[in-house]
Amino acid sequence: MRLTFTIQRFNPEVDSTAHPQEIRLDVGRGMTVLDALIRIKQECDGSLALRYSCRSAICGSCAMTINGSEKLACRTSLGKELERHGHITVAPLRNLPVIKDLVVDMTSFWEKIRDVHPWLVSAARPLREGVPAPTKARDHANPQFHNVDACIMCGACVAACTVYEVSKGFAGPAALAKADRFLSDPRESPSATRARLSALQDEHGIWDCTRCNFCVEVCPKDVKPMEAIVRLRRASLERGLTTTGGARHILGFTDLVEQQGRLNEAIMPLKVVGFAPRGLLHILPLGMKMLLKGKIPNPFGQALPGLSQLQALIQRVRRAIPPA
Ligand code: SF4
Ligand code: SF4
Ligand code: FES
Repeated sequence: MRLTFTIQRFNPEVDSTAHPQEIRLDVGRGMTVLDALIRIKQECDGSLALRYSCRSAICGSCAMTINGSEKLACRTSLGKELERHGHITVAPLRNLPVIKDLVVDMTSFWEKIRDVHPWLVSAARPLREGVPAPTKARDHANPQFHNVDACIMCGACVAACTVYEVSKGFAGPAALAKADRFLSDPRESPSATRARLSALQDEHGIWDCTRCNFCVEVCPKDVKPMEAIVRLRRASLERGLTTTGGARHILGFTDLVEQQGRLNEAIMPLKVVGFAPRGLLHILPLGMKMLLKGKIPNPFGQALPGLSQLQALIQRVRRAIPPA
């Protein structure tokens, strides 16, 4: 079968912007997108730049945007893409600077990984004075690593992240999933865990995620970075790290639902910013707009029917959560 591929090309030496190029190629049954791109490079245009190595979904280097979604080219079937979209369009990963054609600069990705200190800070008991005893995760009961170790650092999640798109300072899903891996490691010392979590409270940390779920959808290794971020948030709250706007939002939301059975938009902003004059000034224009449009409900609310059952449920859940 002869197929037309639309490939995004960009050569910084001659192009001011990226442009699509159509290339026709005879393809066979069972080919992957990577097989086709390698053939295009060998038979049609040797100047096409792409990155790959293992061809087996192990090294993470062939991640790119295929028909609008982040995928590993070496495990994306041409047949299935055609069946689903009727065409094949290939572009580099989004959110990362393009070096040439399908090759992106991963420097910022690696910097974010390095910033979360991706190494174990052990709480090993001394074997003899000054010599820590080696420990193994299997010495501890049921360590839960939640598959985050399966990450192959392909960058697909960062390319799909809606927050990273507008805020390049955001730590990003891959780095935060890596941080969660050490949180789940029973060998890490409690003080190191606390320091790790404290560092993630800053702007661009765990509270910046909007929980859009795109990182989970595109991850080829089922790492589920967003769920890792939720675990980091939960662990932070359990350790009393509650001063950030994100933490206050969650706690305020829960308080209101427990007190009134619903969210109360008149009180919620106060729960988030408190009574600090700067914070109040910041939310004043929004409050005025809401007032003029009749969107401010009675701050004291009206208890909803069934509130006592809801409160009993919340208490039961609270009792069921083990202390940090
Ligand atoms: S869930 Fe959070 S980390 Fe994942 S893509 Fe969305 S904003 Fe980014
Ligand atoms: S979390 Fe998944 S998508 Fe993100 S870098 Fe790791 S393997 Fe790739
Ligand atoms: S070439 Fe290694 S993951 Fe695709």
